[in-house]
Amino acid sequence: METRLPLFPVTTKIESGKLTIAGCDLGELAREHGTPLYLYDRAELDRPASLYRRYMSESWPGNWSVTYAGKAFLCGWIARWACEQGFHVDCTGLGEIAIAVHAGVPREQVLVHGVNKSDEDLLAAFEHAGTIVVDNLSELKRIVRLRETSKFPIPNLWIRLLPGLAVDTHTYTQTGHSESKFGLGPQDFVQAVAFCRENKLPFNGIHFHQGSQFHDPAPLGPAIDSALDLALELGMGDEWHLSPGGGWGVSYHEDDLPHPSIETYVHFVTTKVREGVLARGLSTPHLHVEPGRSLVARAGVALYRVGTVKQSAGRRWVLIDGGMADNPRHALYGARYSALTVEQRQGGTLQPVWVAGPFCESGDVIIENLPMGDIHEDDLLAVPVCGAYHLSMSSNYNGARRPAALLLENGRAKMILARETTQHLLARET
Ligand SMILES: Cc1ncc(COP(=O)(O)O)c(C=O)c1O
Repeated sequence: METRLPLFPVTTKIESGKLTIAGCDLGELAREHGTPLYLYDRAELDRPASLYRRYMSESWPGNWSVTYAGKAFLCGWIARWACEQGFHVDCTGLGEIAIAVHAGVPREQVLVHGVNKSDEDLLAAFEHAGTIVVDNLSELKRIVRLRETSKFPIPNLWIRLLPGLAVDTHTYTQTGHSESKFGLGPQDFVQAVAFCRENKLPFNGIHFHQGSQFHDPAPLGPAIDSALDLALELGMGDEWHLSPGGGWGVSYHEDDLPHPSIETYVHFVTTKVREGVLARGLSTPHLHVEPGRSLVARAGVALYRVGTVKQSAGRRWVLIDGGMADNPRHALYGARYSALTVEQRQGGTLQPVWVAGPFCESGDVIIENLPMGDIHEDDLLAVPVCGAYHLSMSSNYNGARRPAALLLENGRAKMILARETTQHLLARET
């Protein structure tokens, strides 16, 4: 089972036969806060953040920024943490903007995404954002219309390029292929920029995002070339921004270890852009990267209580108290997870288990065919690499109350998101 430990945060240990994270006793946390419970290890958040800073500053000769993709996991604490790291915060729409503003993220550090932004989203972005990444021409027309009524200046506008090139990942998380709903192909992009210039809109950046959870940076190469060709055609001038998005992956299962290296990713992007800029005689852009998962996924561990262990048609089912309502990733993409029991019993033979939740869907399974030793009802099960696209994608299916999240540091736990209660559910009743 030691092979699974590298999936967990750096501070994870087995002490007196029990799994601990950041010196915290997980059994005590479960008793105090209930389960399912999401645990974020502070050290494992800070580690990749400092790697991004280090490799960007070492390998990019000009200005650079890291933008935390808030869609991976957003709450006030994490937005403030991203700011403290010197990062920008990417918000998709009014709701995420409200969380960032409530957390005190300064306007110049808020970047707004969205493929079909509403008037409300755009007006909130005018008021609170430093940059809007525009998806299409209709959005630009809407911005011109709203400019008449808003008392706030229009933030910097970047436009999202659809490079027509996929990265190697699940089809549902590819976004750069030509059939994707996101962004504009190069010809439409040129027209959109002409519209900006005619209407005196502050266009100054090219953005693309090819997809999420990829481990091979090579497909970014031709997309960067396409963005730089476009920059040349558009005459981007001395101060311009280039963002090849985010999407760098992590390993969810011991079979996929080691984790993809942040250094490999950053060096690939910076080298490719530097060479491309030189070859075209372009001025050095302000370079952005936009990671979500590779910053927060490994820091997060989901803690569940086992309610039932049963055998059915040759399968050993371990039924836990959470599932697709807090982790829809297996149901959505067939994502493969691993797990360890908090109590590490010695001996016992490994047998495959299927770990499933309490929800009324056969698809409510989070782990299939995972070798596990002894596991009993009332045990605690810790699932690693749960920090991204879990709570942010969680639902109230079957009346589920979304779990609490705790931040663990130096033997102490601090609540950063409260558990929902039935009162929260009933608050929407009319
Ligand atoms: C525009 C954009 N940027 C960045 C990201 C972050 O991706 P990841 O969390 O895989 O790094 C996403 C994720 O979907 C995205 O849509």
